Amino acid sequence: MEIKLKINGINKEVTIKDGEYLQSALKRLGFLNVRKGCETGSCGLCTVLLNGKPTLSCSTLAVRGIGKEITTLEGESVEVAKFAEVLTDEGADQCGYCSPGFTLTVIAMKRELESPTIDEIKHYLTGNLCRCTGYMGQLRAVKKYMEVK
Ligand code: FES
Ligand code: FES
Repeated sequence: MEIKLKINGINKEVTIKDGEYLQSALKRLGFLNVRKGCETGSCGLCTVLLNGKPTLSCSTLAVRGIGKEITTLEGESVEVAKFAEVLTDEGADQCGYCSPGFTLTVIAMKRELESPTIDEIKHYLTGNLCRCTGYMGQLRAVKKYMEVK
């Protein structure tokens, strides 16, 4: 089936299989940063932005992307670079496998929440798991990036 998807501001004609999920379609198109961990909607590794909202691409049919703005890490290079610098400063740079989904969620949160509390930040990030960490370095980095005191 041929569909049109707008990915990182560029319109693409995409051939998808019946019932194909967005993660698989994006990966086939070469967006290798759209990763996969659990495929059950539990880990957040596959997060992309759909019209700016964090969305689990492993459990979103590719056809749900029709008519929407799909954003992967490559589409947010300025904010990604800013957040990566803060993460490094806080010593929270690790294996990086979870970073694309986590970073996109943090970017969306910064746009959505003004001066969030720590609990609100934690709540927003509940769906993004990281196997490498105790999360404290990441939390420090997120607070700094969000300019939360
Ligand atoms: S791979 Fe999508 S939530 Fe884990
Ligand atoms: S940094 Fe390794 S899984 Fe998160």
